[in-house]
Amino acid sequence: MAERYAVIGNPVAHSRSPWIHAEFARATRQDIDYGRIEAALGAFERAVDEFRAAGGRGANVTAPFKEAAFRYCGAAVSDRAREARAVNTLVFEAARVSGDNTDGAGLLRDLTANLGRPIAGKRVLLMGAGGAAQGVLGPLLAAGPARLAVANRTADKARALAQRFQGAVGGGFGDFRDEQFDLLINATSAGLANEAPPLQKAAFAPGALAYDMVYGRDTPFLALARASGAEAHDGSGMLVEQAAEAFLVWRGLRPRTAAVLAALRKR
Ligand code: ATR
Repeated sequence: MAERYAVIGNPVAHSRSPWIHAEFARATRQDIDYGRIEAALGAFERAVDEFRAAGGRGANVTAPFKEAAFRYCGAAVSDRAREARAVNTLVFEAARVSGDNTDGAGLLRDLTANLGRPIAGKRVLLMGAGGAAQGVLGPLLAAGPARLAVANRTADKARALAQRFQGAVGGGFGDFRDEQFDLLINATSAGLANEAPPLQKAAFAPGALAYDMVYGRDTPFLALARASGAEAHDGSGMLVEQAAEAFLVWRGLRPRTAAVLAALRKR
């Protein structure tokens, strides 16, 4: 019988994760059934309990529940989830639920393996200070950038986030106005509102790469990046790579991602 997994979020109807995991399962000949669970706001724990009771083996967690998932797991979290204070991958074990976070690994893998952009020695601007930024800051720092600036509309949130991580500097967008960056990563939700973070064209160094964690749409940030001469990418690759990493956590093998990513981009 197929082993059951699901993505839990709200909203979750448009999530590509069921399709991605079905492709991975087909390619690796794993018998899994991956669905969607829309949990009511405030009812994340109940949704997890019900899915466990119904025989689920694990789940991915998406907005707005990654922090709730971290709390749900208590002490049973991986180092990378503890550092991010957020969980996107739940593993249902016999006596407990353990939590992991594959978002940072997914972003790093997309940037370095798929896009051929090593982070070491680069000037990196991470925009945003919410759950999305928090999930990737540790792995970005571990990759050895020359500078890592965290800019947020609400400057104090970026300062507080950066303070938790040695080597990061936080502030408002104005604080970094006179700097140039080689890698600019948009972890704000501005694109969902069809807005761009307040950046000057001069922030994009020659040959810069701009990355928006939002996927499946051309955001104003990506348009600004191209107009500033930068190479621009949406978050499709991160989505597929974090899924592959979750699949590895659950099934013990890493699916190939290139064909799935190419097919996702055509959909
Ligand atoms: P997520 O889990 O996606 O990170 P979040 O925790 O709600 O969601 O965080 C949203 C982030 O996008 C925040 O950094 C937010 O900035 P504030 O902290 O100032 O609210 C940022 N954001 C949202 N809309 C934005 C906009 N129009 N311009 C710039 N930043 C925006």
